[in-house]
Formats: sequence, C-alpha cells, structure tokens
Amino acid sequence: MRIVLVGPPGAGKGTQATRLAEKLRIPHISTGDLFRANISRQTELGKLAKSYMDAGDLVPDEVTIAMAKDRMAQPDAENGFLLDGFPRNVSQAEALDELLKSEGIKLDAVLDLEAPEDEVVKRIAGRRVCRKDSAHVFHVTYSPPKQEGVCDVCGGELYQRDDDSEETVRTRLEVYHTQTEPIIDYYRAQGLVVTISAMGPVDEVTGRALEALKSGQ
Ligand code: AP5
Ligand code: ZN
Repeated sequence: MRIVLVGPPGAGKGTQATRLAEKLRIPHISTGDLFRANISRQTELGKLAKSYMDAGDLVPDEVTIAMAKDRMAQPDAENGFLLDGFPRNVSQAEALDELLKSEGIKLDAVLDLEAPEDEVVKRIAGRRVCRKDSAHVFHVTYSPPKQEGVCDVCGGELYQRDDDSEETVRTRLEVYHTQTEPIIDYYRAQGLVVTISAMGPVDEVTGRALEALKSGQ
C-alpha cells in the first residue's frame, strides 16, 4: 500500500505510523525524522533544516522534495510506503504526484488524523522522544516511560524536541492550517481522503485507522 498520513502537529502521526507500518509491512518514511537524523549527524542539510524547524516553519520545498524522493527510491519502499509529514503543502503534493506518475504508480489513501487543538497542544507539551531512535515516543502522562527520562525500548535518553516550545507550537499549528490543510482538499478531489478521529487510546486509533483503510472511508 502507498499511504500519506496527514494531521496537525501532535495528532499522533508518528505514533500511529510506527504501528501501521509494522502491521502493513511497509516502511515508515517521516521527513521530520529524516531532518532530525541529519541534525544529529550535523550534515549540511541538518544545519539548514534546523533553523526552519526551530522557528516552526517549513523547510524549503527543493531540499525537502529531494530528500523525500531519495528515501522513496530505496529498495524497501519499492512495493509501498507510509509517508508521515510529507507532502506538507500543495507544491510538495504536486511533486509527489509527478514522481508517482513517472513510475506508473498511485497512492492508495490519504489518512487524515483529526484532533482538537487543545488536545494536540497537551500531547506536544508532554512528549518525550528517544535520542537513539525517534520512533520511540513517550508522553509524561499518557504513556510515561517506566523510568523517568529513559527509553523503555532501548535505554536511550529521552528529551523534549527543540520545536516543542509553546511559541513554536503556535507557529506550527498556523503553518498546518494555512499550508498543509489545503492538501486535504487537493487529495479529496482525487477521492483519496479517509478521515478518522485521533482521540482515544493509541491502540483504538490504530484499529480505527486499519478499518478505515480497509473500507476506504
Ligand atoms: P514533524 O516531525 O513531521 O512534526 P509534526 O508534523 O509537527 O508532527 P509531530 O511530530 O509534532 O506530531 P505527531 O503527529 O507525529 O505526534 P506524535 O505521534 O509524536 O515535523 C517537524 C518539522 O520538520 C516541521 O515543523 C518542519 O519544520 C519540518 N518538516 C517536516 N516535514 C516537512 C516537509 N514535508 N516540508 C517542510 N518541512 C518539513 O504524538 C505526540 C504526543 O502525543 C506523543 O507524546 C505521544 O506519545 C502522544 N500520543 C500519541 N497518540 C496519543 C493518543 N492516542 N492518546 C494520548 N497521547 C497520544
Ligand atoms: Zn529508544
């Protein structure tokens, strides 16, 4: 399957993507995680991306699209992928369409995770991420690690993302409304959008997502 996951910051895209990718046996491709990996390796791309991410703005399309294309060209993505955080505006969606078209393939669904703003703000404020693997995500009250500050999965140090400050979150939400939400209409016109509520326990949301993907609604 080829799926795009969309939803406001903190809706649980990363949390759900990890689970869905495992169940559907497709790679989870997160442009946010790719940028963060570049930042921790201190690459040129990482240095460029950091200034935009810390401000809550989108990283320029040119570098983002090149990075996403590169990742999608890896052998594990040949038969499907779950895109998390890409595309994030209409020009990225058009670039993705062009790429898929040139390869004679199509998206199967765009899964839209809906969550009210007060909930996503709470989720982001309490989020803690593992330094060793950004797929290991916790929440200080909703899914606390057994030992404070330590990842249950690998023992890595848990930290708060630099862009999770209150001020940056406000910008990220605004950027989501103005730049990312229009892609939902873009994909709705292609009949691809499946909307589910991201509220409730993580496993329940995963079940809801799998059901919705199966039935296409
Ligand atoms: P990115 O990393 O994609 O961040 P985001 O879209 O803002 O989303 P988040 O990672 O904040 O949230 P999430 O929805 O994944 O939630 P999570 O599962 O962690 O992008 C970061 C930045 O990179 C962007 O601002 C931009 O600068 C740049 N960037 C990335 N892609 C780009 C692109 N294509 N173009 C340009 N720039 C780009 O969950 C949040 C918390 O809630 C966690 O603590 C979790 O444990 C908890 N939680 C999850 N589900 C539940 C639940 N059901 N109940 C209770 N708690 C829950
Ligand atoms: Zn870990």
